[in-house]
Amino acid sequence: MIDTLDGKKILIIIGGGIAAYKCLDLIRRLKDRGVKIQSILTKGGEQFVTPLAVSSLTERKVYQDLFSLNDEAEMGHIKLSRDNELILVAPATADLMAKMATGIADNLATTTLLASTKPIMIAPTMNSQMWDHPATQHNLTVLKERGTLVISPAAGDLACGEVGTGRLAEVENIIEEIESFFLSNSNLALQGKKITITAGPTHEAIDPVRYIVNHSSGKQGYAIAEALYREGAEITLISGPTNLNVSLGIKKVNVISAREMMSATEKSLPADVVICVAAVTDWYIKNRAVQKIKKQKEGLPSLELSENPDILKTIATHKSNRPPLVIGFAAESENLIEYAKEKLNSKRCDWIVANDISGEVMGGENNQVHIITSKLAEKWPDMKKTDVAVKLTKKIVYFFKEK
Ligand code: C5P
Repeated sequence: MIDTLDGKKILIIIGGGIAAYKCLDLIRRLKDRGVKIQSILTKGGEQFVTPLAVSSLTERKVYQDLFSLNDEAEMGHIKLSRDNELILVAPATADLMAKMATGIADNLATTTLLASTKPIMIAPTMNSQMWDHPATQHNLTVLKERGTLVISPAAGDLACGEVGTGRLAEVENIIEEIESFFLSNSNLALQGKKITITAGPTHEAIDPVRYIVNHSSGKQGYAIAEALYREGAEITLISGPTNLNVSLGIKKVNVISAREMMSATEKSLPADVVICVAAVTDWYIKNRAVQKIKKQKEGLPSLELSENPDILKTIATHKSNRPPLVIGFAAESENLIEYAKEKLNSKRCDWIVANDISGEVMGGENNQVHIITSKLAEKWPDMKKTDVAVKLTKKIVYFFKEK
C-alpha cells in the first residue's frame, strides 16, 4: 500500500520557541514516511535548534537568510514558497502569527509566507497569557478566515512554569493533521488541473484621466475561479479592474487593458482549461493622448479606435498550446441561442455560456444561462452567480472524467 505522505513536498518553517526541538523528531518521522522536506530556520528558531541538525535530518540545505546571495541564487524565496504542496509553520510563535496576520515581510520566513499561494498550516506555541491575549486571538481569527489551517496548541505544563493552553501539539497530532490535509485534498476532483480565467471589464485609456469601460463587475468570473479552486484546480485569474477579493491560493494577475489581458492569458499557457468570462472592450484608442485632452473651443476631439485582440479566439485557435477545453461567454440581448451558436463556431471554442443581458445581469447577483456545445443547448434556471459557478465546475469535472 502506498503511504499517504509518500513523495509529498512540505516546507517547514521553524519559529523560535522552546518546542522547536520537537521539529527535529517531526522531520525525522516525516522523512521516514517519504516526505520531501525543505526548511527555513528563523533567527528565533536558531536559538533552539542548529541549522546543522535540521539539514542533517532533511538531507537538504536549510534556508535562513533573505539577503543571502547564495540562497537567493539557489532557491529564491518565491520559488521556495511555491515549490511545495504545504507550508507548515512549527512552532508558530505569537510574533510569527502577528506578522502573518498583518502581512509583515521582514525576513525569509515571513516573506516566503506572504509570497505563497500554497496552503499554510500553523502549529502555535506560546505562554498561555500570550495565547489568550485578544491580540493573538484576533490574529488567529484573521488567519483562519484567510484559510490558514491551525493545529491548536494543547493545554498542560508550559516551559515557562505556568499551566494553561500554549503547548505545541504533540508530533503525532501534527502528523495526523498533515495526513488528513493530504487525504482530503487527494479527493478533490480537479487536483493537478491548471485553469485560467479572465474576468471583469477592461479599461481602454483615452488620456491619463479618461477611459472607456463597461458595466462588468467581475462577479461571475470570480465565482467561477473560487468554485474551481475549491475542487483543487491551480487557478490563474486574470482580472481587469474590479473591487473584488479572492482566496489567497488563487494566483491573481491584475491587468487594465485588453492587450494586457491578452498577453497575461497567453503567458498562463499551457493550461487544461481557459474560461474567458471577461467583458473585454472591443476597441482601444489608437491615438491615446499622453497628456490630458483639453476642452476644445472648436469642435470635439476625435478618437481613433482600433480593434482589440480577441483573447478567446486566440486561445481557442492557438497553434502550439490549445487547451483541451476552452469556454467562452456570450452576453446577448436578443436571439440568444442563435447568436451563441454562431459565436461557438466563429471563436472555435468548445462551450459557450450564453446569458441574456436584457435584465440586471451586469453587476447583479443572479444569472440565467444556457450552455451551448457543438452537440447540445442546455437551459439552466435563473440562479445565483455562485451557483452557476458550482454547476459549471461540475460540468468541467465531468468533462475530464469522460475524457
Ligand atoms: O465577441 P464577444 O465579445 O461577444 O464575445 C464574448 C466572449 O469572447 C467572452 O467569452 C469574452 O470573454 C471573449 N472575448 C475575448 N476577447 C475579446 C472579446 C471577447 O476574450 N476581445
